[in-house]
Amino acid sequence: MAVCDYQIGLEGIPAAQSKISHVDGQEGILEYRGVSIQALAQSSSFLETAYLLIWGDFPQEAELEDFKHDITYHRRVKYRIRDMMKCFPESGHPMDALQASAAALGLFYSRRALDDPAYIRAAVVRLLAKIPTMVAAFQHIRKGNDPIQPCDDLDYAANFLYMLNEQTPDPLLAHIFDICLILHAEHTMNASTFSARVTSSTLTDPYAIVASAVGTLAGPLHGGANEEVISMLEEIGSVENVQPYVDSLLARKAKIMGFGHRVYKVKDPRATILQKLAEQLFDKLGGDKYYDIAVEMERVVADRLGHRGIYPNVDFYSGLVYRRMGIPTDLFTPIFAIARVAGWLAHWKEQLEANRIYRPSQIYIGDHNRPYIPIEER
Ligand code: ACO
Repeated sequence: MAVCDYQIGLEGIPAAQSKISHVDGQEGILEYRGVSIQALAQSSSFLETAYLLIWGDFPQEAELEDFKHDITYHRRVKYRIRDMMKCFPESGHPMDALQASAAALGLFYSRRALDDPAYIRAAVVRLLAKIPTMVAAFQHIRKGNDPIQPCDDLDYAANFLYMLNEQTPDPLLAHIFDICLILHAEHTMNASTFSARVTSSTLTDPYAIVASAVGTLAGPLHGGANEEVISMLEEIGSVENVQPYVDSLLARKAKIMGFGHRVYKVKDPRATILQKLAEQLFDKLGGDKYYDIAVEMERVVADRLGHRGIYPNVDFYSGLVYRRMGIPTDLFTPIFAIARVAGWLAHWKEQLEANRIYRPSQIYIGDHNRPYIPIEER
């Protein structure tokens, strides 16, 4: 490969052929298996969307019921995993706790039968079922409390909020949370999905794949941005401060968190849906000055950077929604991971269908023929 073919960050280089999702960054279109994100947010549920992503078609009614039933049945995590979490430092980030716990699942359930559809389905069910339980469990364990057991009478989103707050959530909040999960479930060849595909290509187990993707999602340029958006809005503090704040960031050439995207050059369609959900939530629970700050921020950034295609991304409004629901800021990225497990597993399954281990090349730009220098002569 010639030097001119090299693109830093692999920008624009296809890393896989995929039927799972499609983004048109100029038109602001996102589709899962050909279905628009707007239609799924309007009419689907997270588990139905996860099924669609992983198996490629909408489930029949009985298939969906079985899927939901099996996920409900497998929600509990082994006490040894909960005990392991008790050894984690309470100051540790929940993404690190999740990465370690996801990897630990592989100690209990591994041994790969990757050509067996029953093994694949069981791993999908376990991961979708247990990841939310582990996120909620660490939240209680780090405060010195016992985790709340899952509630079989509640659906996926409501059960997670219940495990977090020990209280059955308002149906509107649970519904909004479920839509947030749909919006975060998949997004083509982003960094964590790429990481999941690379790990899948070695034919390792799905728990290792999810652990590696969780580690990748944790970074502030990827899933971690939603936390930083909230810190930024808190730091701004008032609508009047937005303009000077944005200008001072731009003067320092600093990034504005929650804005910009490698693919979207218009407003991320997920941000548009999330903004509407935020409005519904604030109508129900009462206003929030941070929403007003965010709207002003969108206006100012569009004015300063819109000509460069820098608009709000999915992380800009999701944090506001979770914050208003009373969810701690450092759980925002683990919640992103709960949703994205669906996409990672869809890519795992697709990778297995036509696998070849990832082994890109590099362009060596280092030295040659350097002499070895004995330590006393350095
Ligand atoms: N604020 C200010 N300037 C920006 C921003 C931003 N948020 N995003 C891009 N730019 C500018 C860059 O400074 C750069 O300017 P330059 O050409 O003068 O150096 C130019 O736009 C291109 O930026 P890159 O970072 O090279 O674009 P890239 O496609 O690599 O980055 C990314 C995309 C990482 C998302 C970037 O926009 C960013 O860092 N945003 C803030 C973090 C964020 O919100 N991440 C969440 C992304 S969504 C997700 O992962 C789920």
